[in-house]
Amino acid sequence: MQSNASRNEKLHVGIIMDGNGRWATRRGLSRLRGHEAGVEAIRRVVEAAPKQGIGTLTLYAFSTDNWRRPKAEVAALMTLLRFYLANEVQSLVRNGVRLTVIGRRDRLPDGIANAITRAEDATAEGTTLHLRIAVDYSARDAILNAAAKAAALTSLTREAFSQLVTGEAGLRDVDLIIRTSGEKRLSDFLLWEGAYAELHFTERMWPEFDAGDLAAALASFHGRERRFGGLQAIVPEEVPSLSRV
Ligand code: IPE
Ligand code: IPE
Ligand code: MG
Repeated sequence: MQSNASRNEKLHVGIIMDGNGRWATRRGLSRLRGHEAGVEAIRRVVEAAPKQGIGTLTLYAFSTDNWRRPKAEVAALMTLLRFYLANEVQSLVRNGVRLTVIGRRDRLPDGIANAITRAEDATAEGTTLHLRIAVDYSARDAILNAAAKAAALTSLTREAFSQLVTGEAGLRDVDLIIRTSGEKRLSDFLLWEGAYAELHFTERMWPEFDAGDLAAALASFHGRERRFGGLQAIVPEEVPSLSRV
């Protein structure tokens, strides 16, 4: 079987960071404490990812549907985002991490959209890891917005549409989506980019997730055979393109 790491291509991994609230509640803590502990887990995973063959890491931090939560919890999450952007940029630059934020920016509290732009600009030269954080993100909205832009075009390829959906030229499709906390659903995450993603569900709550859990998810990934519709194992870079009608 061909290894999923053959040709040394760096992987794109997406993580649905779930379980902060339950982790905290089970310990008699407020849900906010769970979200704070979740930020620590982000730090661990961002540090571990490049050492484990990951070139692009997309983290689901706040969904468009999460606005349905109580105001106080939403406000606490936005405050954590503000702190992350203010405090983390130096270490991201030091570690060669390029940060981009995907999702809507126009509904975020004052100042956050500017802080995102500053963080993206400051980290733009990073080449060790591309960290994408999804905030006020909905995959269906991303596809819908891309479709609206595409309507003005006379011809369209998958590659061109991908760029409209993801905001990036040549972004690698997602190889692996991990979801913590035992839930087994995608909750509107990376529906276009993840068309052939392998899925890994773990009972681990996000605040406890560490480098070892990431390695275990990748070990499971590397043990799988990806066939992309054919009959043999194949790596994404070698999938022959079919002429489409
Ligand atoms: C994930 O943890 C973080 C966000 C969705 C912002 P949850 O807050 O969903 O935690 P549970 O699922 O309630 O345990
Ligand atoms: C998905 O988790 C969104 C994030 C992890 C940011 P949710 O906890 O919001 O998802 P559902 O409601 O259980 O599907
Ligand atoms: Mg949840």
